[in-house]
Amino acid sequence: MNFFYKKILSDGFVKGEISLIETKDLDRFSHLIYNLRVEQLKKNKKSPFLKLVGRNQELDLLLEKLISNKYVQDALNVLVGKDYLMMAPTARFSSPGDKGLELHQDAIGETGLLFLVTNQNPGSTIMFKSSHKFPGRIANKLSWNSKKLINFISFFSSSINGKKGDFYFWFHKTWHGRKANLDGDKEHISIFFPFFPQSANRSDIEKKNVDYINKTNNTYLKELMKQKVFSNSDNRKSEEIPLSMKIEKFSIKDLMSKSFLLFLIKFLIFEIVFFPIRILRIFKKINHKKNS
Ligand SMILES: [Fe+2]
Repeated sequence: MNFFYKKILSDGFVKGEISLIETKDLDRFSHLIYNLRVEQLKKNKKSPFLKLVGRNQELDLLLEKLISNKYVQDALNVLVGKDYLMMAPTARFSSPGDKGLELHQDAIGETGLLFLVTNQNPGSTIMFKSSHKFPGRIANKLSWNSKKLINFISFFSSSINGKKGDFYFWFHKTWHGRKANLDGDKEHISIFFPFFPQSANRSDIEKKNVDYINKTNNTYLKELMKQKVFSNSDNRKSEEIPLSMKIEKFSIKDLMSKSFLLFLIKFLIFEIVFFPIRILRIFKKINHKKNS
């Protein structure tokens, strides 16, 4: 197994090693996204998210260019397996004044391509290295996980940073969040392309994609947003389990990994230091129940 796959299996995320699109395409890409952002703000919609498919033919073509790249396809075939399903990609804005997002984990098998549209150093997305190795999904139960603490927590996590055009692959099981933007003038823009393996059986995602499947004329994007159905189940059994599904199973071997042990130490220290917050929350809950 080459360095790229070893790295994502060890850390939960890995930076791409090549350039996916030419500078002139990248400039057009950010220009089109800025235009959509202006339109969105004019309508007084302050959401940090913006769906991109079906808004503009040229933009659809650029999205296709990114994800049809051989390097991306090869990586996705290993990470999520063949015939993967794509959730309609979203541009995510971290604008001045944005309060950030607490740590969380997403669905089983979900694996992302995260593309930086603007230079981000330091980045706005943070991830806890090797946290995907921790069994189950507990990030939302941590005593130290809150929006108010996210910038403090970021000192102990990894920043998804780089130049515009850089990109990462990552398992959405990795504990991740968004820092509050205290920069004052800098807006960070990233594009999130979430992918699901066949075996995750997410026909509900196709339903969420329907609007975008109908809006776009781009057949490549349309096909990627549809769940592929196998008639021959034997075909499916013989296929290798993709890495994004393998990581769901805890392996005792992980305890030998230095980066996972480091993560466990951080996790335990934080739980001890922030234990009073946990107690306070329990009291608040009891009080709330009494009053209601
Ligand atoms: Fe997420």
